[in-house]
Amino acid sequence: MKELQSLNKFIWKYRWQLITGFLMVILSNFVSVYSITYVGSAVNDIENVLSRYTSGDTGDLDQVKKSLMYAALLFIGLKVVAGGFMVGVRLMIIATSRHIEYDLKNEIYKHYQKLSLSFYKTHKTGDLMNRITEDVAYVRQYLGPGIMYPMDLISRAAIILVFMIKIDPMMTLYALGPLPVLSFLIYRVATIISRKSKEVQKQQSEISSTVQDTFSGIRVIKSFNTEETTKKNYAKEAVDYEKKSLSLAQTQAYFSPLMILVVGVSNLLILYMGGIRYYEGKLDIGIIAQYFMYLNMLIWPFTSLGFVTMLVQRAEASMGRINEFLKQSPEIENQIEEKTAVSGKIEFKNVGYTYKNTGIEALKDISFKLEKGESIAIMGKTGSGKSTVALLLARMLQPTKGEILIDDIPYEDLNLHSLREAIGFVPQEAFLFSDTIKNNILFGSISDGDSEKAIHYSKKAAVHDNIAHFKNGYETILGERGVTLSGGQKQRISIARALIKEPEILVFDDSLSAVDTETEEEILKNLQSEMNQKTTIIITHRVSSAKNADNIMVIDEGRIAEYGSHSELVAKEGAYFNLVKKQLSEVE
Ligand SMILES: Nc1ncnc2c1ncn2[C@@H]1O[C@H](COP(=O)(O)OP(=O)(O)OP(=O)(O)O)[C@@H](O)[C@H]1O
Ligand SMILES: [Mg+2]
Repeated sequence: MKELQSLNKFIWKYRWQLITGFLMVILSNFVSVYSITYVGSAVNDIENVLSRYTSGDTGDLDQVKKSLMYAALLFIGLKVVAGGFMVGVRLMIIATSRHIEYDLKNEIYKHYQKLSLSFYKTHKTGDLMNRITEDVAYVRQYLGPGIMYPMDLISRAAIILVFMIKIDPMMTLYALGPLPVLSFLIYRVATIISRKSKEVQKQQSEISSTVQDTFSGIRVIKSFNTEETTKKNYAKEAVDYEKKSLSLAQTQAYFSPLMILVVGVSNLLILYMGGIRYYEGKLDIGIIAQYFMYLNMLIWPFTSLGFVTMLVQRAEASMGRINEFLKQSPEIENQIEEKTAVSGKIEFKNVGYTYKNTGIEALKDISFKLEKGESIAIMGKTGSGKSTVALLLARMLQPTKGEILIDDIPYEDLNLHSLREAIGFVPQEAFLFSDTIKNNILFGSISDGDSEKAIHYSKKAAVHDNIAHFKNGYETILGERGVTLSGGQKQRISIARALIKEPEILVFDDSLSAVDTETEEEILKNLQSEMNQKTTIIITHRVSSAKNADNIMVIDEGRIAEYGSHSELVAKEGAYFNLVKKQLSEVE
């Protein structure tokens, strides 16, 4: 249970609830076991009545009737009291497991948010979701039933054992002998069931991802006319699922007969031993009844022992998976407590970056300088490293070589949140949330709810007319729950989202690629006034977007190939000049 030890801090936090719960389990079990004594005396009373009838002495029966009634009422009353305690137990222990589940989910969620981009590049979203939902649920089952049942078993078995041994030690041995066998068998079967259910679950998620893949790619499937192949793939997965489910059902089918068998043997032994002792006059008949009831009270806790073992094993595995992520320390962490002002001067000094997971050296020896308010355009073939420059600047990645200075300070010495606040980043893949357009634009801006500003910056990003065209305007809901936008509309909304932050530094990563040249020109013109006071980085494939920047940097395979203003680079007649020639002839 190495992994589960990391839960100790939560268990300690809720120790009083758990201790109260344990005391209540003891009380409930004591009262419940004690109440059985009255069943014994009731059976003795009945025997008394019967024997009087057979002997013909039916004289004064009122006394016996009274005693019978008294025993029955006490039995029921005590059972109600025991039930009341049991409710308390559940309120304490099961509720605690819910509290810990809540705490644990919050801890994981908070940690997820801290982890760096590189973590998210190497882990699937589905995996992340599973660990915070399913794995936490398994851990919770350990904390709830996994703690409650053993408490119940231990206290109940101890109390019953005392009662049983006090009555008849030898018969106790016979009655309880088969129970450990029961526990062991159930444990074995439960382990097999758990293994098989895992296989079924795994196959279920295979089917889900096949279906998801199929229907998110349905356009491609239809246009390539591959419905038959897709159907066959699905059928294969489905048959596999059926086989695994049937195998699980077969194992489950053994479960209750097995239990009934072992319990039956125990009952038989009580009847046999009890019968012999009764005939020998060593035992009241009521005791036999009591023993049956004691045994019945022990069956469930013993059964649960196998179940609990399975729960604990499963929780241990789940907690291991959770801990694996919790132990990952974020690659990039804020080291500076107080906020730092950022004015917008940028310097890259011999910066290199290698992607760890692929070993691709995306950038080599990149150096450039931008004064506050200056602009630079970064051009280069696809895969040359342009986006990597942008991600490094926003400190989503950490340079593996060289250093980046902001306002002449190594940017590790700035408050990370201040740095990111100072950057208006329009990523290459425009991502919008399933929310209204207005909330998407205001996202991350300090002045939330400010519609005027949203309109102002939408106009600058040349998307206001499009938005005004929608029936619900800025309240239009996007994404799965609403309208799907065109690529160009998405890009412009993310531009508005970056502008509204009024940041010191603007980064556009190929943000106008899906916009026609006319709109591009309009946006660039609108941005000109913004850009004068802001340090701007424009990553682009188009000369039209780049030519007005103070400097243009052409990257080739991670190295700076050319650097200079538009006229300088044209005069040089190099790679940039070739681009100019080609793109201008295209326009013509
Ligand atoms: N998350 C990643 N993990 C591993 N390698 C990556 C990752 N992202 C990019 N790369 C690699 O780094 C190199 C530079 O990629 P980058 O995204 O910076 O290119 P780019 O110039 O922006 O290209 P494009 O014009 O197509 O956007 C490429 O060879 C790419 O395969
Ligand atoms: Mg890119």
